[in-house]
Amino acid sequence: MPKVLFLPHKIILPQGAEFQAEEGETILTVALRNHIKLEHACEQSCACSTCHCIVRKGFFSLSGWSEKEDDILDKAWGLESESRLSCQAIIGKVDIEVEIPLYSLNYITDH
Ligand code: FES
Repeated sequence: MPKVLFLPHKIILPQGAEFQAEEGETILTVALRNHIKLEHACEQSCACSTCHCIVRKGFFSLSGWSEKEDDILDKAWGLESESRLSCQAIIGKVDIEVEIPLYSLNYITDH
């Protein structure tokens, strides 16, 4: 069973946390199951970018990304080369480390 380490985030998860995951589930599913308030404004339909995360370890063990994910990711705050939409990134067999960016482009919470 792979593990997902969520690195500390000063608002959402100050201490960071590590959880067991099932191969085949998304990063967002692991977060929500463990009560991490990772935003997901479009309810996981690959349309909002609020679930953006940066995969610091194990990036290439995740499922590939679609052109649509790529387009939506372009709107994310703090985009990096190892960015993914957590609702689209499916976990494989390998442990991963995930950073939740400090901000997201959620009109409702940002304004
Ligand atoms: Fe909207 Fe992931 S929840 S893109």
